[in-house]
Amino acid sequence: MESKKIAADRAVGSVKSGMVVGLGTGSTAYWAIQAIGARVKTGLNIQAVATSEKSEALARELDIPIVPFSDIDSIDITIDGADEVDTDLNAIKGGGGALLREKIVAAASRELIIIADESKLVQRLGAFPLPVEVVPFGIELTMKKLAALLACPLNLRQTEDKLFLTDNRNYIVDCHLGAIEDAVQLNQALNMIPGVVENGLFIHMAAKVIVGFNDGTVRELT
Ligand code: A5P
Repeated sequence: MESKKIAADRAVGSVKSGMVVGLGTGSTAYWAIQAIGARVKTGLNIQAVATSEKSEALARELDIPIVPFSDIDSIDITIDGADEVDTDLNAIKGGGGALLREKIVAAASRELIIIADESKLVQRLGAFPLPVEVVPFGIELTMKKLAALLACPLNLRQTEDKLFLTDNRNYIVDCHLGAIEDAVQLNQALNMIPGVVENGLFIHMAAKVIVGFNDGTVRELT
């Protein structure tokens, strides 16, 4: 917890009054939203967009002003977590299922800061199962296409005895790749499959990664 919080606190130091801020999703982004909420209470004047219904609800509880996309032209800074991140600042996201909204918000942001505890820092992406968001229509066909492309175990994500549904009412396929050789090519190939909405590879999107360590230190990768 502490290593996530120190990374989040460092990132929130970059937020300034007047900014439009993208709020990430997950247990690390939770600490960033808390820190932004605390600063809003003492006068920070921002507008925010959220990457999930859960983060939006948390922001509203903390009186962080949430604005619709129709009210903004772009996002100044987005602070979000990751499931894995490498030293080239590439990441796998979507462990919580929010990858589509996270990627839309990240792509609209001038600066994406990824925050993570040290367990997320890897030499090569892929040990964490890559989440792929797919539409329910034709799911069997989409799974066959994914199997042919990836040749690895695939799991249609479930929660208890039900299929997991994203905030966009889609499914998630977790792809157990083990290691990803060419993330750029994989990102493109996945998104060419009809039925795939988006995948959890965030390549060349982050401007900075802030890693919190268990010994209380923080490292910034740029
Ligand atoms: C949400 O779908 C994800 O992309 C999260 O940002 C990612 O799973 C990291 O979550 P934690 O901070 O909870 O590990």
